[in-house]
Amino acid sequence: MSPKILIQLDTDTAPSTFDAVVAVDSGVDQLFRHGGVTPDNVTPLVHGAMFTRGGAELASTALFVGGSDVAAAEAVFLRARGCFFGPVRVSVMLDANGCNTTAAAAVMSAAKHLDLSGAVVAVWAGTGPVGRRVAEMAALEGAEVWLVSRTQAKADAACEAVRERIGGIADAKVRGFQADGPESARQALAGAHVVIACGAAGVELIDAETLKSAPPSCRVAIDLNAVPPVGLGGIGVTDKAVERDGRIVYGAIGVGGLKMKVHRRAVAELFAANDRVLDAAEILALAKALVSA
Ligand SMILES: NC(=O)c1ccc[n+]([C@@H]2O[C@H](COP(=O)([O-])OP(=O)(O)OC[C@H]3O[C@@H](n4cnc5c(N)ncnc54)[C@H](OP(=O)(O)O)[C@@H]3O)[C@@H](O)[C@H]2O)c1
Repeated sequence: MSPKILIQLDTDTAPSTFDAVVAVDSGVDQLFRHGGVTPDNVTPLVHGAMFTRGGAELASTALFVGGSDVAAAEAVFLRARGCFFGPVRVSVMLDANGCNTTAAAAVMSAAKHLDLSGAVVAVWAGTGPVGRRVAEMAALEGAEVWLVSRTQAKADAACEAVRERIGGIADAKVRGFQADGPESARQALAGAHVVIACGAAGVELIDAETLKSAPPSCRVAIDLNAVPPVGLGGIGVTDKAVERDGRIVYGAIGVGGLKMKVHRRAVAELFAANDRVLDAAEILALAKALVSA
């Protein structure tokens, strides 16, 4: 077998160090790193991967699309896949801003404690790139998703984008919810079984008192913001399946261990064949298999 080569296609000027370290830790032999990648300059980089090793050896070359701007990376991901034809292809994964691996870890952490099918999952600040993936994955698990934003129009637009991505699932329930203070937060918490906070770093979304006042039916609370103040007041950043005020809670670092495992597992999966395409649904499936192993 040829050495495993991962080609990092990053939309930022300097390709992510984080993604490079995880690649090495996932068993990649050679990492080729490219920054400033756009749909306009990605084609020759992909052709270089496709036309060098042939046949079964193509499985030893793979692409990783990253960068801090998820929309920009999605455009590169689409263009890269468009270069493939017939059997002449290599595996490719999208995890810009850690969106897929972080969301998969959050959703699977919640799924350890209750059946998400039919549960109401409130994705707080779900309008950002991580929140949208969380909403998408929770919907894929059969949850009713309340995508919460400070602005109704923003919530509705994000819901539309999520619905578009999961278009094949007719009964998916994703609706926008506006919450811009403790009173509206209480209303959303009253109907939710799970809350996953996906707010910007260093922003408290729900204060400790408001979270504490949520009924026992709100069984799980997960916060993805590691930068103080955390997104859900009263939750410690390292909390991992800890019981607080009658509910199970996770802080960002508490979810981070599973996120790292999912990220490494996904990179390893790229070399299982030459035709893997790993985006939200596929990375969620890998996370699910890891959790149930
Ligand atoms: N643990 C990990 O491995 C990992 C990996 C990646 C990201 N993260 C964390 O995941 C979280 C989400 O990431 P992201 O990139 O999706 O976040 P983001 O785009 O920076 O922000 C997400 C949402 O937060 C809300 N928000 C922004 N500023 C706010 C403010 N001042 N007050 C209240 N709400 C505000 C906005 O929603 P509305 O305007 O709609 O209200 C925004 O769409 C971040 O905390 C990030 O650090 C963790």
